[in-house]
Amino acid sequence: MTPLLELKGISRFFGGLAALTDVSFEVRKDEILGLIGPNGAGKTTLFNVVNGFYAPSRGEVFFKGERISGLKPHQVCARGLARTFQVVKPLQRMSVLDNVIASAFLRAKSKAQAVQIAGEVLHLTGLYDDREVISKGLPLGKRKRLEIARALATKPELILLDESFAGLNPTEQNESIDIIRKIKEIGITIMIIEHNMKVIMSISDRIIVLNYGQKIAEGSPEETRNNPLVIEAYLGEA
Ligand SMILES: Nc1ncnc2c1ncn2[C@@H]1O[C@H](COP(=O)(O)OP(=O)(O)O)[C@@H](O)[C@H]1O
Ligand SMILES: [Mg+2]
Repeated sequence: MTPLLELKGISRFFGGLAALTDVSFEVRKDEILGLIGPNGAGKTTLFNVVNGFYAPSRGEVFFKGERISGLKPHQVCARGLARTFQVVKPLQRMSVLDNVIASAFLRAKSKAQAVQIAGEVLHLTGLYDDREVISKGLPLGKRKRLEIARALATKPELILLDESFAGLNPTEQNESIDIIRKIKEIGITIMIIEHNMKVIMSISDRIIVLNYGQKIAEGSPEETRNNPLVIEAYLGEA
């Protein structure tokens, strides 16, 4: 079966710095794929290459069997691949509802349809009761969820989550784990960057490990936890 997403030999250079070197892997439909590695390993750069924010210096990205490297971010999103950002940046002065409606217009053919999609997404992410709140007034945990809600409102088949748990307290972490499981249940495939080992080990079906821009491991949470290369590069420090 064609993988949902396929990276083939991706390298990305910034001047003399190799942020990614010859990275290849696939994301299978309906899985939760964890992406881990030390700070500066190239995780966010990889998302930026996949969603078209950066062109790869070498290699190609395929989504549903079609080449997407070379497309602009809005074109990638229109194909059904959405992402969140490590640093949350919803439109601060808009209400939560209007923020999500704005994203829903990627697919919605009318205001009514956009409102309906937004309502569904706000229920899913537990933000419905906050819909009238101006976005900048939300606490961090809910701003992170608003980022997820805005990505979901574009009706993606694959969603890329960049550190959606960073800065959350344990209660908020558990709420977000529930939301991610629900997203999976409605048939959306997930690739997630996360530092919290308890979170990533419990929700991921498979895990990819990056170190200095290279893929050093790929496997089940169990295999990853026990991989000497991973322990040395990353887990040992935790
Ligand atoms: N736009 C850029 N210009 C120059 N260097 C960059 C840029 N984006 C990322 N980098 C560098 O690429 C490396 C990987 O960064 P990043 O992908 O943000 O790592 P991670 O998300 O794993 O912490 C770092 O050394 C970072 O400084
Ligand atoms: Mg990052």
